[in-house]
Amino acid sequence: MIRSVVLGCGSYLPARALSNADLAKTVDTSDEWIVQRTGIRQRHVAAQGEFTSDLAIRAAQATLGHAGVDAQSIDLIVLGTSTPDNTFPAAAVTVQAGLGIHHGAAFDLQAVCSGFVFALATADGLLKSGSYKRALVIGSETFSRLLDWTDRTTCVLFGDGAGAVVLEAQQQAGTREDRGILTAHLRSDGRYRNKLYVDGGPSRTGTVGHLRMEGREVFKHAVANITDVIEDAFRATGFTAADIDWFVPHQANKRIIDGSAQKLGIDPSKVVSTVERHGNTSAASIPLALDVAVVDGRIKQGDLVLLEAMGGGFTWGSVLLRW
Ligand code: UT7
Repeated sequence: MIRSVVLGCGSYLPARALSNADLAKTVDTSDEWIVQRTGIRQRHVAAQGEFTSDLAIRAAQATLGHAGVDAQSIDLIVLGTSTPDNTFPAAAVTVQAGLGIHHGAAFDLQAVCSGFVFALATADGLLKSGSYKRALVIGSETFSRLLDWTDRTTCVLFGDGAGAVVLEAQQQAGTREDRGILTAHLRSDGRYRNKLYVDGGPSRTGTVGHLRMEGREVFKHAVANITDVIEDAFRATGFTAADIDWFVPHQANKRIIDGSAQKLGIDPSKVVSTVERHGNTSAASIPLALDVAVVDGRIKQGDLVLLEAMGGGFTWGSVLLRW
């Protein structure tokens, strides 16, 4: 059967890092509160004139270099983002043009913090259909542009960044020992759409709007939703928590990450956590974390890697893959 195999990954963070102490100068917060409630110590913020597509292009170039493939071999670009440069066209076509690719297809996918997991699953389906051979799957965000910088309950949580992987359609045996994406599970429940949303948009207000969140409500659902969809992945493959080499969750809050790992029985030494340095970069958080763990030598070819995310919508999902 066809499997979508990861050929390489890469990421990009804007140069400017904003510490908790920096934020405490402008809103009524403290390093102690932010670290204790979220685990975040700093986040990166895009420069003026630096857009989601710019971050994505930098991450894509790093990814192509790491994978050792030419941009011209890419025939599909799926970009997970909730902060496109413009309402349209998709930021993905700007990335496509920036990479000098004039063939194949490129589109954005909007599932907020679950964007990368949804984008991976979508690319996997398109590769498995036989229509495309090599996909660039990107998560890129400039959430700094959606934040109300006077609202301490949200502005301390998010950051900007981008990460990506190259997926290639490869013929494999069809067993759970194969390399590539072994299973993907996506969920959403629109009854909760007002728990985490942006209060503007092209159709509703004609403005971009600001991010609004009932943090405690999101927190309450997070661990339960995450563990549900990971159990779906275990059921589909027969793997258990003990088989996982690396758990690379969406990086929203250290307490959610630790709580999910504990509920699932995943050893803390297998958890990749970057929330301390990156904050919550929404659709970019998983590929940013993947790249950190590949560069520092933790994730190696053949490792079983479990990804999960939960975000606005609510949306949530898991992907289990062999690197
Ligand atoms: O990626 C998408 C998914 N998003 C998430 O997963 C986020 C989920 N939610 C969370 O991570 C947490 O709910 C937060 C980190 C957002 C908040 O933590 P919490 O422990 O749920 O705090 P809380 O909202 O219950 O607020 C506790 C107190 C409040 O004061 P009172 O009402 O107890 O007097 C807040 O006003 O902390 C106050 N507070 C702050 N204090 C200092 C809220 N934000 C801040 C702040 N600095 N930045």
